[in-house]
Amino acid sequence: MSGKLPIIGKVEHHAAQLGALGHPVRLATLRYVVQAGHEGAAAGAIQAHVDMPASTLSHHLKRLVDAGIIRSRGEGTYHYYSAAYDALRRLTDYLWEDPVCAAMIGRSRTRRASRSPACGKSGTRCARGARPAPAGGMDARMILRAESQDLPAVLALLAETQLPTAGVAENFDTFFVVDDGNRIVACAGLELHGDAALVRSLAVAANMRCTGIGTTLLRRALYEAAECPLGAYALTTTAEAYLARFGFERVPRGFVPQALFESRELQDACPGTALVMKWRPSR
Ligand SMILES: CC(C)(COP(=O)(O)OP(=O)(O)OC[C@H]1O[C@@H](n2cnc3c(N)ncnc32)[C@H](O)[C@@H]1OP(=O)(O)O)[C@@H](O)C(=O)NCCC(=O)NCCS
Repeated sequence: MSGKLPIIGKVEHHAAQLGALGHPVRLATLRYVVQAGHEGAAAGAIQAHVDMPASTLSHHLKRLVDAGIIRSRGEGTYHYYSAAYDALRRLTDYLWEDPVCAAMIGRSRTRRASRSPACGKSGTRCARGARPAPAGGMDARMILRAESQDLPAVLALLAETQLPTAGVAENFDTFFVVDDGNRIVACAGLELHGDAALVRSLAVAANMRCTGIGTTLLRRALYEAAECPLGAYALTTTAEAYLARFGFERVPRGFVPQALFESRELQDACPGTALVMKWRPSR
């Protein structure tokens, strides 16, 4: 078990948050508070923005605080409200990750039905027919942002797949995991250094391969990496052809932005013989 809340608990939690947002005043308040940044906005400023009596506004603010979407703090006689960015990020991740994953599950079910023997090794074409459905059911599979309690399972999966573990713990807040409802079955990580990203630690448990999980995870990581002005890079000794499917191309090591050499993977975790690949999203 990954130690996560049961999935139904997560659904209910997010439904409650969306319920709290389901009012024009509360939505406008949230947007205002989000735009105010980490310091937040004073109650008086919010009141001026939404233009309503303080007593009515305080009811709306309480709904948002109770839902964990905003936080309040007192400074002298003033009350400030700031966005709970971490909770908002989990909520928005939840909203868009599931459909992506569900789409991949649908696709892989169809494809699996048309193939037969066991899954091939790296670099070979996959055959998907004989594998039983994973415990917990395919529908329970979700991409989640990694949480600290996932770290041991991710390190074990990386060890199993012979990928480096150095630097994983330090960058774990930008990792993703796939949880089949019972355990972590796949992971992918991003390291952000300066204006560049390193996509790393893409691993799928051996008995879960060739069902599109790697593709879904990599696309999720690249969606975030697309924000980096200097682009996304990856190191590999085994998956050049796989990464090439997503637009990665081999580049000389000297091509790598200096900031990425802060990464343990570049410094010492990956063999010097590993290929460096750069993602070219437009091609
Ligand atoms: C590489 C890996 C993440 C792919 O995950 P996956 O969920 O099995 O892959 P998907 O289902 O998205 O894609 C499967 C396709 O990719 C191909 N593929 C898988 N691994 C490959 C590899 N190393 N090189 C080339 N192609 C590969 C499969 O043959 C299959 O091809 P097909 O669609 O033509 O049949 C997984 O095999 C893995 O964990 N490998 C060990 C760790 C590793 O090498 N990670 C990459 C580090 S950069």
